[in-house]
Amino acid sequence: MKPKVYVTRRLPSKRAMDLLFKYLDVDLREEEVPPSKDEMITHLEDKDALLCLLTDKVDAETIRSAPKLKVISTYSVGYDHIDVEEATARGIYVTNTPGVLTEAVADLTWALILAITRRIVEADRCVRTPGCWRVGWAPDFMLGTELNGKTLGIIGLGRIGTAVARRAKGFGMNIIYYSVTRKENLEKELGAKYVPLKELLKEADIVSIHVPLTKETYHMIKEEELRLMKPTAYLVNTARGAVVDTNALVRALKEGWIRGAALDVFEQEPLPADHPLTKLKNVVLVPHIGSATYETRAKMADMAVDNLLSVLAGKRPPNLVNPEVLKIRPLEKVKMIELEE
Ligand code: NAP
Ligand code: GLV
Repeated sequence: MKPKVYVTRRLPSKRAMDLLFKYLDVDLREEEVPPSKDEMITHLEDKDALLCLLTDKVDAETIRSAPKLKVISTYSVGYDHIDVEEATARGIYVTNTPGVLTEAVADLTWALILAITRRIVEADRCVRTPGCWRVGWAPDFMLGTELNGKTLGIIGLGRIGTAVARRAKGFGMNIIYYSVTRKENLEKELGAKYVPLKELLKEADIVSIHVPLTKETYHMIKEEELRLMKPTAYLVNTARGAVVDTNALVRALKEGWIRGAALDVFEQEPLPADHPLTKLKNVVLVPHIGSATYETRAKMADMAVDNLLSVLAGKRPPNLVNPEVLKIRPLEKVKMIELEE
């Protein structure tokens, strides 16, 4: 009998889907919206493996009601939707998809930086709105902020933060960063300077967030931090919505504590169309599309399936989030399939 897997959405890679069906007994959910908690619990009752998305909450209760579960493979690099501690305690391997999405997210971050500083979305709307573009060219029409010579402040100089910083060199920007640990090699390569968070907020013209969502980073940017920023500065968030206190950000944008914000991620997703953020002119909002390129999404699918199959084949998965689990349930005790090389 093949091991059983619950796959919460069809993934955009033929290779990945073929491999799943070749080795496993697949319970594939064909709906677009995330499964409810009850649905997850019901489907996981007899499953050995789960392949989920970042929208699918895998909390302690869900994990506890899946007695046979051995691996949770998420189709994302972020894993804040999974109770990793509970999974580890129960000997469940948790895997993610780092690296393959780094460049796509860095590109999107730059698309947002340029869109907000040069008012691209507002300008596009103006051209399409009768009466908005009244004169052909005017000295003070649609002015934005120049990037050359300005300072980019990166919060979280990990894979994506570094890729964003590398692109900043091409725009002639100075780079400062704040992270848990100092990165001396990167400081040399990028000419980046490590500064405490408060200093970064005071100095940067663009603040770009790239930390994971954890207990420590939840609402890391709230009223106090927003008030430290320059009134001419912009906040860009392509990490997780809950790193920023949304209510404080709305006030900052309305009252001019900062000049603008560009967001790919929100505390509530999907963002309701009548949310206060949607009423503001000085924001650019996109629907969590950081990794949304054909190339990246296919690579993520392959990686998520390779991770999952590795665990079931008794091999250390390439992207293990909780290595402590190896002591709790050694891989030889998980082995359920033979992979063809
Ligand atoms: P990463 O390589 O692990 O980088 C995260 C960085 O954040 C690390 O450098 C880490 O510092 C730093 N950090 C962690 N906790 C911190 C804290 N409390 N204070 C300051 N810095 C802290 O991860 P990544 O691959 O770049 O991904 C980053 C995040 O982006 C993911 O977790 C995910 O939430 C988000 N993401 C969003 C999208 C999207 O579609 N918008 C796509 C992919 C990822 P150290 O290196 O010093 O430990
Ligand atoms: C996307 O947000 C991810 O974490 O991969």
